[in-house]
Amino acid sequence: ARPVTTQTLLEMREAGTRIAMLTAYDYTSARILDASGADVLLVGDSASNVMAGHETTLPITLDHMIYHAQCVVRGVQRALVVVDLPFGTYQGSSREALRSAIRVMKETGAHAIKLEGGERVVETIDRLVTSGIPVMGHLGLTPQSIYKFGTYKVRAREDEEADQLRADIKRLEEVGCFSVVLEKIPAALATEVTESVSIPTIGIGAGGGTSGQVLVTHDMLGLTVDFNPRFVRHYASLAETVTGAVQQYVQDVRDGTFPDESESY
Ligand code: KIV
Ligand code: NA
Repeated sequence: ARPVTTQTLLEMREAGTRIAMLTAYDYTSARILDASGADVLLVGDSASNVMAGHETTLPITLDHMIYHAQCVVRGVQRALVVVDLPFGTYQGSSREALRSAIRVMKETGAHAIKLEGGERVVETIDRLVTSGIPVMGHLGLTPQSIYKFGTYKVRAREDEEADQLRADIKRLEEVGCFSVVLEKIPAALATEVTESVSIPTIGIGAGGGTSGQVLVTHDMLGLTVDFNPRFVRHYASLAETVTGAVQQYVQDVRDGTFPDESESY
């Protein structure tokens, strides 16, 4: 199949074809997700939670993100690979951001980067886009600012924050983002701001009116059993499947039924 580009995503939006995005952090999973038709694979800084077991996305480093991205890129033939710039690698200055983004592009072979924020990162995005690096924006709940928000609750329920988001998405479009993630905002607002721009929006906990959807793969596969927000739909119960398989394996080893003759040389 023809590789997905940022241009493909724009064409999908124009054709009314919804975009399916998932997170990926390793080669084996990326291969399966890519072969199963996911259009975009996000090497999310959610790797900090899902891969490393941290409470927040703040601790993950650029070196860690680059390692995950290298692994994912090796498993992909069709999907567009987008890599999160982690906390602390782009907020200082547009110069620092460019240095970080160039490392991702040169060292991983990924196709684009994503960073969080609106107005305050516009100058930075301008610099990256001008340098030829495709940028995906991220508005609404931006987990790198969790200690400013204080909670992971729905954002932009109040008029002031909704107005800011309306302005931010326009600025992100103007400065050249090829797409914007909208995380955990009211569905009506997500629909409205999607209609206010011509670039595709990708929602997570933002209702059905965006141009596409993204979920953390480990959430939708039922691997992260103690994380159950309403926006996650479980398409499998892999934690249960794996538990059953491992329990069976342990029992077979204990009672000597694994390996049998056909599994021996
Ligand atoms: O890091 C991540 O997984 C993300 C998505 C949830 C959009 O940013
Ligand atoms: Na992220």
